[in-house]
Amino acid sequence: MYGESLVKLMLALDVMDEKKAILIAKETSEYVDSIKIGYPLVLATGLNIIDKIKESTNKEVICDFKVADIPSTNEKIAELTLNHADGIICQGFVGSDSVSAILNVARAKNKKVIVVTEMSHPGATEYLQNVAEDMAKMADRLKVDGIVAPSTRPERLKEIKSIAKDAFVISPGVGAQGGNLSDVLNVLNENDYVIIGRAIYENENPKNAAKKYKIQM
Ligand code: XMP
Repeated sequence: MYGESLVKLMLALDVMDEKKAILIAKETSEYVDSIKIGYPLVLATGLNIIDKIKESTNKEVICDFKVADIPSTNEKIAELTLNHADGIICQGFVGSDSVSAILNVARAKNKKVIVVTEMSHPGATEYLQNVAEDMAKMADRLKVDGIVAPSTRPERLKEIKSIAKDAFVISPGVGAQGGNLSDVLNVLNENDYVIIGRAIYENENPKNAAKKYKIQM
């Protein structure tokens, strides 16, 4: 039914209205493998939105909070988030103790930790890019579940993926940020996810948009 690479589709559901979020999540769920929500939706509606999306779609929900604090604060954020979500995204630049604090909470709850390496936006080349390989090495050493790496720079995506070799990759940048899907599919495999947000939820027909991407994958 779908393309040959079988890379998974993660919907970035950054709308700020509960009804709209649930409607789009339900409408697109046939073509979506995982749903990522972040501050826009959770600050607008509360953490219970996670349970509501899970109930209405049966999909895993990953919280993109890009947690970046000292270990004891990271631990509290992870505890609250992972009482609802299936996984949490944290920043790697805060260091291995901060990431480990989240991993400890996640392991006890059988949930996933995904570490940001190089981000997909232009500003990521100013600072983050210089240490992205080091963060990928840390992710590999700590045996985190997944890493975030950019679809806007497929050559960097390939390099970072080759370092954190046992982690799955979730990769934003296709669609609104201009990343090219076929270039990205040459790098990713069936354990990995392409993240797409605005190009789906801002489309007048989100279901068709999700289908359009999924059948190419
Ligand atoms: P769009 O609308 O651009 O949404 O398709 C992309 C989604 O991914 C998030 N994003 C990132 N998350 N590292 C991350 O952890 C990144 O480099 C990155 N770039 C984009 C963005 O917040 C949105 O939810």
